[in-house]
Order: sequence, then structure tokens, then C-alpha cells
Amino acid sequence: MSELLHDETEGAGTGRGGTAAGAGADAETRVPGAAATEGVPATEGAPAAGDGGLAARAAALDAADPLAKRRELFALDDGAVYLDGNSLGALPRHVPARMAHVIAHEWGELRIRSWGESGWWTAPERIGDRIAPLVGAAPGQVVVGDSTSVNVLKALVGAVRLADAYAGEGRDGGGPVRDEILVDATTFPTDGYIAESAARMTGRRLVPVAPGDVPDAVGPRTAAVLVNHVDYRTGRLHDLPGVTAAVRDAGALAVWDLCHSAGALPVDLDANGVDLAVGCTYKYLNGGPGAPAFLYVAERHQARFDSPLPGWNSHADPFAMTPGYAAVDGARRGRVGTPDILSMLALESALDVWDGVAVGEVRAKSLALTDFFLECVRAYVPEGRLTCLTPAAHAERGSQVALSCPDAPAVMERLIERGVVGDLRRPDVLRFGFTPLYVGYADAERAARVLAEVCAEVAAEGSTEGSTEVSAAR
Ligand SMILES: Cc1ncc(COP(=O)(O)O)c(C=O)c1O
Repeated sequence: MSELLHDETEGAGTGRGGTAAGAGADAETRVPGAAATEGVPATEGAPAAGDGGLAARAAALDAADPLAKRRELFALDDGAVYLDGNSLGALPRHVPARMAHVIAHEWGELRIRSWGESGWWTAPERIGDRIAPLVGAAPGQVVVGDSTSVNVLKALVGAVRLADAYAGEGRDGGGPVRDEILVDATTFPTDGYIAESAARMTGRRLVPVAPGDVPDAVGPRTAAVLVNHVDYRTGRLHDLPGVTAAVRDAGALAVWDLCHSAGALPVDLDANGVDLAVGCTYKYLNGGPGAPAFLYVAERHQARFDSPLPGWNSHADPFAMTPGYAAVDGARRGRVGTPDILSMLALESALDVWDGVAVGEVRAKSLALTDFFLECVRAYVPEGRLTCLTPAAHAERGSQVALSCPDAPAVMERLIERGVVGDLRRPDVLRFGFTPLYVGYADAERAARVLAEVCAEVAAEGSTEGSTEVSAAR
């Protein structure tokens, strides 16, 4: 399959065209702008918006894009503008054939033998090692399985237990000195719910803190901090290196939720000294609906990582079936029970689309695409109609653009009817996710043009209908 991909994507390899479409890498270091901006802010490095020439520019940018041919690897209709890969990534075309083989041969013919002969038993660590380079982790630290929610529990309780182990606390009388868990106050809800439970399980006080305030809030009472790398609603990218350094300086552990950054931008877990991390694989990693999540436990913590869900799959000798639990070494310690093999193998197959692609290349195109989309929105949509929630500064932007307007439900419903698929976060946020492996500049231009038409129509009709939740996914 990888050979096939190389053939089909000739010219899309690593090291070519590092900064697609002129997204200045230097812009990363500029002073961030304000977040919620009335109107759509000027983007970094973008020329002043004009009315004409945007479609022609889009065509030229697509022609020069080293990742453009990757789109052929995905099952997308020619006319579709799919801007919802931040919720559910598109299907790589080769996955159905691989899954047909898994079902017919590995399950249908080999049956139980496939646990060994088809590599089912070792799939969680093997696939973890394929995700590892995409999040800047050396091999042996990432394991795949369970949902992100479940992994948040493992990581956060595991982090608090590590804090106790390092402090030698929490065992013989008296309460722990590090009696607080800090949680991202703007978090995706599941992390907040689970953090609350983790706090109860570990006898800690949960303190909600905005990610930017973590360096001031973290201190000698903090056991662990849970932060989202990219805000699911606004697309704001948080300062992972800075926050992690502050947390570690305070002697606490940093746990990151990478759902909206894995596969979208460089994360550099090892280089930034992150302690634990979780992320999903059904967004920018295109693993499919309900694809298993991943858990990263830094190598330096693995020997003391004490999972709150010590199932038989993480036992040192799982087939001995002993009553007492003894944890295995390494990444497998993050496993719980029997893995969801079909989803897991679909994910493994889907990861082939990354062969020969560097995350830096994807990031450069993502910034160029979101800059260009915002430029088109500015050119086409009358000022004041939409408010941009996504920061203009590259250093603070993930791979999505969030625009708000009071009639967002009706606007998104009509966009989808016209083949521009984003999603709605109630009550008033339009989300547009840009997956550089299959979204191009012409898609961005068309999305902005149709958005302008729809905004005008809905305003003219005074329509606020369309209150359906457009997507069940997040
Ligand atoms: C940031 C973030 N964290 C956690 C989750 C929950 O993931 P899951 O439903 O796989 O548990 C999501 C889902 O989209 C998410 O966006």
C-alpha cells in the first residue's frame, strides 16, 4: 500500500516546498493579535484584500502546492468542499479494500490465529509507534486504544499518582501536599467531567484555569494540569512549550489533550518535555468514526505509571491469568482490555496517507489555507456580518477557523445544502476545519464565496431556522 501511495503522490515527499503558498514561517514568532475580533481580522503576511482575482490566485496556489495530489488518496466527491475534518476525517480510498481483507481473511479464515499471525495482539503498540513521529515522540511511548475520554482518565489519574510517587506522599497518613489539579477552564466538556471525577478519585481539589493563566496559577500545591492544545470551539492554539515548562518548573505534571492538533501541526512532545498526552485519531488522522484514541506516557515516567484501569491487557503476563495484577513495562501499560481490532486496523491502514509527508509541511499549508480563507471572507462578506473567534496570529491558530453570527444555525444548514460542509457549535459558531492533505485553496475560495451568498440570503429573509445540531461529532 505504501508503494502505491508513493506512486500516486509523486512530488509530495518530505523536504519539498516547506512553506506552501508563502505562509511565512517567520510569522510564527510575531506578536499575537486579539482573539475575538469584530469582523474578520487581517491575516499575517496576507496582501490587502481585493474583490477580484481570488479564484485565479487559488488556482495558482493549488498548482504550486506540493500536497495537492494527496487529495486523490481520499474518497471525496469532486464538487465537495469538506471542511469538517476537525470533526471526522475523510476516508482514505484504500482502507475499504484493506478492511475487506481483514474481515474476510484475518477474521473469516484465520479466526483466533490472527491474534498472533496477523499481529492483532501487538497492534496497539505498533500503531502507537506509527503515530509517535506525528506527535514528536520517540518509539515505545504511545499506545492506541479506548476513547479519548477513557485515556483522559488514565492520563490524569496516572499523573496525580506519579506526583504522589515522586513526592513520596499519599501513603502513610495525612493528606497530599499537592492537593490540586488544574484543568483548562475552556476545555472540551468530556475532559472537564473526567477531571472532576479524577479529582474525586484522588482526593484533590479541581481548579479551572484559562490555559494562558496556568503559568501564574501552577504552584507547590499542584499535582497535575490538564490542558487542550487547540480549543475545539475557537481554534485557538495554546502555548504547549511555555505551559509545559511552567508546570514542570513547579514540580507538577503536564497532561495535554491533542485531539485538535495531532496530524494538524507539530506537537513535539519529547522535545517539549510533556509528561502525558492523549488524542483522538478520527479527526486529522482520518482513522474513521470512533477510531481508537492514543495515550502518550513519557519514557521517564513509564516505570511508575500506575493506571487507574489496570486491565488484563496491561498485565506483565496476561495469559497466566493470575488473580494478582503486575503491570507490564513500557507503553503497553496504558492498555486495558481487548482492543477494538477492526477500528484499530482501519486506523493503521489510514495512516498510510502520511507516508512521505512531514508534519511541518502540513502546518505550513494549514496556515496558508486559513490565511487565504480569511482573506476571501474579508473580501466577500460585508464587514460586521461575522465575528472571527480564531486568532489571526499564526502562533495562536490551530487548523480551523471559527466565525460567529447570531443566525449561525441557518447559515450552516444552507452551506451544507450547497456542498460546503463545516459544522455548528451552538449557539452561534460556524466551524471550518482545514485538513491540508485534502483541502485546497480553491475549496477555501469557494467556501468563502458560498458563505457570503448564504449570509446575504439569510439576512434578507431574517431567517433563524436551522437549529439542528449539524454534526453529532465534535
Ligand atoms: C478536545 C477533545 N477532547 C476529547 C474529546 C472526546 O473524545 P472521545 O469522544 O473520543 O472520548 C473530543 C472529541 O471530539 C475533543 O475534541
